[in-house]
Amino acid sequence: MTEQTIPTIQIKDAPQYVGQTVKIGAWLRNKRGSGKMAFLQLRDGTAFFQAVVAKADVSEKLFETAKELKQESSMYVTGVINQDKRSKFGYEMKVSDIQVIGESHDYPITPKEHGTEFLFDERHLYLRHIKPFATLKIRNTLIAATYEFFNKEGFIKLDAPLLTGSAPEGTTELFETDYFGQDAYLSQTGQLYAESGAMAFSKVFTFGPAFRAEKSKTRRHLTEFWMIEPEMAFYDQDASLELQERYVAFLIEKVLEQNEQELDLLGRDKELLKSYTKLPFPRVSYDDAIKLLQDNGFDVEWGVDFGSPEETFLANHFSKPVFIVNFPKAIKAFYMKRHPEREDVVVSADLLAPEGYGEIIGGSERDTDYDYLKQRIEEEGQSLEDYNWYLDLRKFGSVPHSGFGLGLERMVTFVTGEEHIREAIPFPRMMHRLRP
Ligand code: 4AD
Repeated sequence: MTEQTIPTIQIKDAPQYVGQTVKIGAWLRNKRGSGKMAFLQLRDGTAFFQAVVAKADVSEKLFETAKELKQESSMYVTGVINQDKRSKFGYEMKVSDIQVIGESHDYPITPKEHGTEFLFDERHLYLRHIKPFATLKIRNTLIAATYEFFNKEGFIKLDAPLLTGSAPEGTTELFETDYFGQDAYLSQTGQLYAESGAMAFSKVFTFGPAFRAEKSKTRRHLTEFWMIEPEMAFYDQDASLELQERYVAFLIEKVLEQNEQELDLLGRDKELLKSYTKLPFPRVSYDDAIKLLQDNGFDVEWGVDFGSPEETFLANHFSKPVFIVNFPKAIKAFYMKRHPEREDVVVSADLLAPEGYGEIIGGSERDTDYDYLKQRIEEEGQSLEDYNWYLDLRKFGSVPHSGFGLGLERMVTFVTGEEHIREAIPFPRMMHRLRP
C-alpha cells in the first residue's frame, strides 16, 4: 500500500481495521520495553491502545526513535491492527513507521501516584488522563441526553442572562460586580427568566452556568456549576416530580447505553446504576424524613436543613433516589408555593441520590399570588425594584407552574461514582481554586 492509500483512523475504530495497515495520530501515555521490543501505550482522545515496535521488523533508527519517545510526545504511528485478547481494549498495532510531531520533555504527571491538589494545579494536562477522560465523556453524554429528552418532551431551550440584578436564591452567596455603576451579580439561577419563558412557550429549560460564592469546602460544592432548569406552565408539583424522575432515569439509561467502556474504566457498578432507573422514586414528606432520622439516632429538629449525613442516610434507606417533599418555608426560597393547608411548609421537593451523592435536584411549585410574593421579597430584604418585572408575571394571566434545577456536576458524580465534584467539570472553580 502506498502512503496515499493508507487510511488515517482513530483508535476507537481500530476493530474495523483488523489485518489492515492504518495511520493514527496519537500521544504517548507510557511505554515499556526490552532490548528487542518497545510497547507504546497510546491515546488519541477516542480510546487507548498499545502499539508494538519489534526491533527485528523495523530499521535501527526507527527502533531507537520508539525507545526514546517521552511521555506525551505526539506522533503519527503506522502499522497493522491485530486482535489482542490480553489487552483491555482488545486490539493493538504492529508498528512499521513513526513520525514524531511534537516532542515532550519532563511531563509533570508521571505514572506514579500524585496528590489531588497537584493534579488539579495541572488540570490543563490532567484532562488527558484516564479518570478525567471517562468522567468528562459521561458528562458529555448527560448534556446531549438532556437536549434529547427536553426536545422530545416539547420544551424550548431558553437562554437566561448570566449578569443579573437579582438574587433569587438569597443574598449570602453572591458574586457581585460593578455594571457601569450599578450593582450586578453573577447569576445564581436562571429560574426567574425560565418562569417568564414558560408563560410564553409553555415548557422551557435553561442550561447554563450558575454562580454561588460558597465559602464551604465540601466535596459537593462548586462556586461555578452548570444547572438545567426546566419550567412548566400548568404543572403542579406531582406533574413536575413525574417529569423529574423520568428525566433522571433517561440520563442514567443513556449513560449505560453509550458509556459502558467509561463506566468500566471508573469501576462503576452498572447493575446498581440500572436499579436506579426503576420508577417511581419514593416521595417522603419532610415531616416523615425528620421522624425517620430521629428514629435512627440523628440529632435533628423539625425546621433544620439536611446536612450531608442526613441526605446520605435518607437516600440509602430507600436504596434509590428519593424525593423529600414540602420543606419548611423558613429554609426555602421566596418564590415557592405555600402549602394549601399549612402555613409552615412550601410545595417543594429535593431529589436525593443514594450512596452519598447528595441533592441532585431542587425544585418547587411556584406561588402565583402577587401580594404574597411582594411581601416575601421584602421580608428577604431585597429591593422590589429588582423584581418588578418578575412580579409582572403574576399580574398578566398568572397560572399554576412548577420547575426544578438539576446540578449537572452532582449528576456526573452520581453516575460516575466519583467521590468529589471537582472531577465532574473540566476546570473546577472552588473557594481556593481559580486556576488553571
Ligand atoms: O436547590 P437549588 O439552589 O435550586 C435552584 O437554584 C432553583 N432555582 C432551581 C429551580 O427550581 N429552577 O439548586 C439546584 C441544584 C441542586 O439540587 C444541586 O444539584 C445544584 O443545583 N447545586 C450545586 N451544584 C454544585 N455546586 C453548588 N454550589 C450547587 N448549588 C446547587
